[in-house]
Amino acid sequence: MAHLTRTLAVAAALGGFGLLRPAPSLLAQLPASVASPDGRNIVTVALDSGVLRYTVTRRGANVLLPSALGFEFRGAPRLFGGLRAIGARRASHDETWTQPWGEVRRVRDHHNELRVTVEETAAPGRRYVAVFRVFNDGVGFRYELPEQSALRQFEIMEELTEFSMASDGRAWWIPSFQWNRYEYLFRASPLSTIDTVHTPLTLEMPTGLHVVIHEADLFDYAGLNIRGGKEQNRTLRVMLAPMRDSVKVRGATPFVTPWRTIQLADRAADLVPSVIGLNLNPPSKIADPSWVTPMTYNGIWWGMHINTMTWQSGPLHGATTANAKRYIDFAAANKVGGFLVEGWNLGWDGNWIENGDKFSFTQPYPDFDLQDVAAYAKSKGVRMIGHHETGMGIANYERQMDSAFALYRRLGITAVKTGYVGDKTKEGDAHHSQPMVRHFRKVIETAAKYGIAINAHEPIHDTGERRTWPNMISREGARGQEYNAWGGDGGNAPEHETILFFTRMLAGPMDFTPGIFDINITRPTGKPRPLEASRPRTTLAKQLALFVVLYSPIQMAADLPENYEGQPAFQFIRDVAVDWDTTRVLEGRIGDYVVVARKAAAKDEWFIGAITDEEVRTFTAPLSFLTPGKRYVAEIYADGKDAHFLTNPTSVAISKVDVTSASRLTIRLAKGGGQAIRIRPAAGR
Ligand code: NOJ
Ligand code: CA
Repeated sequence: MAHLTRTLAVAAALGGFGLLRPAPSLLAQLPASVASPDGRNIVTVALDSGVLRYTVTRRGANVLLPSALGFEFRGAPRLFGGLRAIGARRASHDETWTQPWGEVRRVRDHHNELRVTVEETAAPGRRYVAVFRVFNDGVGFRYELPEQSALRQFEIMEELTEFSMASDGRAWWIPSFQWNRYEYLFRASPLSTIDTVHTPLTLEMPTGLHVVIHEADLFDYAGLNIRGGKEQNRTLRVMLAPMRDSVKVRGATPFVTPWRTIQLADRAADLVPSVIGLNLNPPSKIADPSWVTPMTYNGIWWGMHINTMTWQSGPLHGATTANAKRYIDFAAANKVGGFLVEGWNLGWDGNWIENGDKFSFTQPYPDFDLQDVAAYAKSKGVRMIGHHETGMGIANYERQMDSAFALYRRLGITAVKTGYVGDKTKEGDAHHSQPMVRHFRKVIETAAKYGIAINAHEPIHDTGERRTWPNMISREGARGQEYNAWGGDGGNAPEHETILFFTRMLAGPMDFTPGIFDINITRPTGKPRPLEASRPRTTLAKQLALFVVLYSPIQMAADLPENYEGQPAFQFIRDVAVDWDTTRVLEGRIGDYVVVARKAAAKDEWFIGAITDEEVRTFTAPLSFLTPGKRYVAEIYADGKDAHFLTNPTSVAISKVDVTSASRLTIRLAKGGGQAIRIRPAAGR
């Protein structure tokens, strides 16, 4: 089945196998070039001493110098040099498609394509096709390995793709192959000095050009990492995540690799919304995805992270029937659409990270009546979100997956949060290796069969699969709020989310879990956490702004219900939209600040989220995006005059002001602060 799915996907990607042998009349000489529809970005493909290389320019300036393509195999010579071109052809495409949910409703896929077929001049005489698509916002390319007698089964030891940057720039990166996967604080350093890092990798060039390297349509391959290193100067190379025996990818022709994407923008603000990856994924396989519901949600969760509840059984067990009903009541009374419950199933007792293969995904703890809770949620109009932590016990999960999803379906549960704590499978494959990539895709496809949406924690990075599988609703894949809960000094720095916006978030939605109101994390004893311990290093207004800034169609109001009681600022969470028609970045500098405006889906309502790092900042936001001549009210949740992320984080000033499209709002952000604004028509509330 897996093989059939892959073969069909490959066939679709190749546009039919018949096209693979170019007719002699199509033979073209290299170098060959292809430009973006606006003519700015140009890719040139050339053979240089038998090696195929590509170059990228923007407005006539070099972005990438000639960069090699190829593969290293086990048990076979490299597919790299000694090549001749046997065909090149061009195509154009212009189509606008609609997302069922997203940061933007309508997406334009406008690109020009160049397909270059090369063949080894000597034995074994293997062939591959390099396909380039050039968009106004960047370049995508991938390899196709057509069916051929010279290349049948293969084991890729490395993909030899290079990104030879024309100049040095500042790279914003997190390290690869570490225990915590993508959950590290970002660092910035010259791209010429980076080691091995994850993607999306955002590069700020001296000219102001921003270049983002990532991948799209990853479904049966190993996850992409980028390797730099002093000795390589500015040439970045691919490093794939390995399986237990160091092989990176096992496959058979015909085969396609994921797209390698190079997003280009003249300034940071133009990087968002990023759609190049979506355009490089196949259209939706779910005919009617209307059951995938964007919503805010709460859940039995933060208590476990701040140590007032436990996943495992005992006196502090969080997932009890009574506690669940309390959360559901709060959600129902407060326009919170969903409710998550963690720690409901057997397997959490003992070391669950080590013993992941002990989890049951169908048997609840005795103090949690799953049927009763699910029925109660339904009766209150709250959508329950299930939870499957695997602890990387992949075989254990796959054995139970069908029965687990069938159970949820019977109970009317249409979303599940999954978890993959651990850095390798029990068999020793890297967390982002080919078997894991296959697993993640299998979960999405199986869940879709049961009408269930997936919110994956410790996931593989997002490569735009939500276009094909709109039930892939959100994921973690970066340091989220949970790091602010764990005590010690492991919290996120005030600049963290201003970096996420221009790095991780370019891949897709993140389940960051904003909305902590008890910033000081008051212990049951009534004592707040000491200042030097980890806790959200933000103001309360910034916690609200994160609902707008860090896009996710499901947004958790993560704090305990009791911490929201009697808080006027909670009104923003009741009102905030989670699905958008349009997104506009008004201001942005990586690591410093973001001001973003988003129009709610199918409603004349706008939301603005503004966040800063540890500096005070003031912005003026013109509201020219509003309908001219119409009167609106802006509901503003600002940092109080005396607000400060360390010493006075909860000071918030709520006000209302009448505005029109001619108005300009002054947005002042405290140190570690933020501002959240809802703009709604004056008459309609
Ligand atoms: C890590 C996840 O990020 C977190 O949200 C979850 O509560 C734990 N794993 C347990 O599954
Ligand atoms: Ca996590």
